[in-house]
Amino acid sequence: MKILVLYYSLDGNTEAVGERIAKKLGADSAKIVRSKRVRPYTAWRRFKAKLEVARKKKPDIFPVKYDPRDYDLIFIGTPVWFDSYNPVYNTLFSVIKIYDRKIALFSCGENEDTKALKKFSDLLQESVIIDTYHTVEPLWWDEDDKVEAAMVDAENWAEEVAEKTEKILEEEELNRRLVY
Ligand SMILES: Cc1cc2nc3c(=O)[nH]c(=O)nc-3n(C[C@H](O)[C@H](O)[C@H](O)COP(=O)(O)O)c2cc1C
Repeated sequence: MKILVLYYSLDGNTEAVGERIAKKLGADSAKIVRSKRVRPYTAWRRFKAKLEVARKKKPDIFPVKYDPRDYDLIFIGTPVWFDSYNPVYNTLFSVIKIYDRKIALFSCGENEDTKALKKFSDLLQESVIIDTYHTVEPLWWDEDDKVEAAMVDAENWAEEVAEKTEKILEEEELNRRLVY
């Protein structure tokens, strides 16, 4: 089974989770990079970022290293921005459509809220979403063992998703053979 971990990350949390998942599963990984740097740390820039999310803008991104459609299972990670997924995915999914691939979505946010995952799932409603996972800013624990525990939790989730997907793919293959 070919697995890709795709993510956007501004401050490193989603990237850290994505890379840990990729390493654990022996998957390819690709970070989505915006063409223009974004720094929503002042009130004005935060407001601009909020507008971008609210208006479902499509910021320019560099070409992604791997084509998700070449994979059986794609993990897609996003930081929560204003209760939503990151706008880079408006850009990506306006260009490519993923219909018959298995998808697992993960998000990193300041709090436990999972509204962003719901919106992210809606954006990808034409795909088969196996599962979703949310974690709270895993890198920003003061204690190293808490950071590690958060990473291991994400890895365990990803392993379960991969096992579940493997079974689904086997069943699908069996059904195809029964039909012929
Ligand atoms: C512009 C902006 C908006 C954010 N909005 C939310 C939010 O609505 N809810 C939330 O829980 N966290 C919010 N956060 C916090 C990030 O989701 C959180 O720090 C996340 O771990 C960042 O991921 P990253 O390190 O991969 O960029 C926001 C952060 C930024 C920069």
